[in-house]
Amino acid sequence: MALLKIITYPEKSLSEPSVKVQTVDEEICRLIQDMGETMFHESGVGLAAPQVGVNKQILVYDVRAKDPDDEGSEETFTALINPEIIDASGSFISENEGCLSVVDFRADVKRYEKVTVRAQDMDGNLLEFEAQGLMAVIMQHEIDHLKGILFIDRISSLKRTMYKTRLLKTLKETQSS
Ligand code: NI
Repeated sequence: MALLKIITYPEKSLSEPSVKVQTVDEEICRLIQDMGETMFHESGVGLAAPQVGVNKQILVYDVRAKDPDDEGSEETFTALINPEIIDASGSFISENEGCLSVVDFRADVKRYEKVTVRAQDMDGNLLEFEAQGLMAVIMQHEIDHLKGILFIDRISSLKRTMYKTRLLKTLKETQSS
């Protein structure tokens, strides 16, 4: 297993849609293991393949997100292959949302309250489940990544521009120092 490098905004490939996975071969299995390890190492609750430079429709999430009361259990993740949201209802504000690929920034994002997800597991079985709360936010956030959408694409353009300006300034300062 290995830790993977997280790609950060404004890297272009984060804005590109990912392709469907045809076969879960050895390479994909290894990638998934590494994604899980990297997610826990970075203290994330979800991670999508494009965030580690692979534009394929794969995401991993911390299974403890399903049950907010479950704090004591061990780090375990689940992988979803070719996930899609097939139904969504309600709306709420996901407060202080962040992303490992968007450094030093958090914002409130409008999200669906409840979503139905269809995906395949690593054995190729078709899954369909409902998610709400934190789990619904993770699903929307990570499936967005697979479409080339970041959470900053879902906030006001003013806030996004302010973040972009600050980030570019920081990047410039780091380069010149
Ligand atoms: Ni993210």
